[in-house]
Amino acid sequence: MTEHSDVIVIGAGAAGLMCALTAGQRGRRVLVVEHANKVGKKILMSGGGRCNFTNTGTTPDNYLSANPHFCKSALARYTPWDFIAMVERHGIAYHEKELGQLFCDVSSKLIVKMLLDECAAAGVRIETHCSVERVVHGDDGGYRLHTTRGTFTAPALVVASGGLSIPSMGASGFGYELARQFGHAVLPTRAGLVPLTLSGKHQERLADLSGVAFPVTARCNGQAFSNFMLVTHRGVSGPSILQISSYWQPGDDLRLDLLPGVDALDRLQALQRERPAAELRTVLGELLPKRFAQRFGEVWLAHLQPNRPMRQFTLPQLRDVASLLGDWPLVASGTEGYRTAEVTLGGVDTDGVSSSTMQSRHVPGLYFIGEVLDVTGWLGGYNFQWAWASGHAAGMAV
Ligand code: FDA
Repeated sequence: MTEHSDVIVIGAGAAGLMCALTAGQRGRRVLVVEHANKVGKKILMSGGGRCNFTNTGTTPDNYLSANPHFCKSALARYTPWDFIAMVERHGIAYHEKELGQLFCDVSSKLIVKMLLDECAAAGVRIETHCSVERVVHGDDGGYRLHTTRGTFTAPALVVASGGLSIPSMGASGFGYELARQFGHAVLPTRAGLVPLTLSGKHQERLADLSGVAFPVTARCNGQAFSNFMLVTHRGVSGPSILQISSYWQPGDDLRLDLLPGVDALDRLQALQRERPAAELRTVLGELLPKRFAQRFGEVWLAHLQPNRPMRQFTLPQLRDVASLLGDWPLVASGTEGYRTAEVTLGGVDTDGVSSSTMQSRHVPGLYFIGEVLDVTGWLGGYNFQWAWASGHAAGMAV
């Protein structure tokens, strides 16, 4: 039996549910098909189970895309405050953690429940365990979906199937294949917001420091992020590293300021005046976590003999130490990949999509929203805000 709707949304994640409830509120008959056993799995696991659902400081500058202007229209028409208003209407308690990042006080489950309640109130039907086998664009201009749960038709089809990160949570390349089927270009994809791996001597030097964390500024390709770095068994992670990972590719020069906000030379000179008898390695152990400082001295400052008292260091030598502290090269070999990445960079080329409606410029009635598009946010609630904003834009247009 074939079931007809006004709109079919593929993917019951953040963008798909937002699109569905918006279209439903406009009186459209909406069907959402989801191949996983339940909806919103990434929302549930996000923010350590408390969902960093938006960022009050969201601007288009917080996104990576081959066309940095593409996200502007949707972000301007559905702002963090619009989403916050819905959260407040549903009585969900939240707090700002840092840097405009809003988290639920209790659980991400409340965000999924809110979206499902809104969908139910708007008459949206959701089919889980539903795998799409084939999509046909008929002569009548409508879409026919052959799925494991039957055949569904609609004049509008919204692709909200997300990116490739965390395949165990239902991620698939389905949206990219569908885009190609309809003549859309798909820009190369890679893991973003992901820990970096080290290899060879670079890994050996740090591996036993796994668990050490401290603030750094990570710099690469003209971008800089100040936040914590965490040494892991296989490399480095923590917010500053996850952020810069989206701007890094193998071979790129990646530098860390190990004393962010501190003029390292000034500090070393002051310490030389105040404590001339203290060894450099002791002084470093007060500026950096002790275990890291010890390794830093042994490996990167060995030529300067850091076990000497501060008084013996010449100004050029202190300059060397300061410049290494402020501009330490980190030689990464790769990333942990989609298995642990929070997002997928690249995706459906926005050139083929309208920035105001998310509708395909090639095929009428076909829409792309959320992470499947080549729009990727920074860490900190920006990716959900893009999902809400692009989902809302399409929901208003279908
Ligand atoms: P999303 O991945 O949410 O949804 C896609 C849906 O489509 C899924 O339900 C999937 O099962 C379904 N699907 C895929 N293929 C299908 C097919 N062939 N047929 C049917 N259904 C299909 N962002 C943020 O702003 N704040 C945060 O706190 C976090 N935290 C976070 C933690 C972790 C561990 C991860 C992996 C990611 C985050 N993110 C985040 C990123 C955020 O989760 C992500 O950007 C959005 O969920 C993207 O929303 P979409 O709806 O586009 O895709």
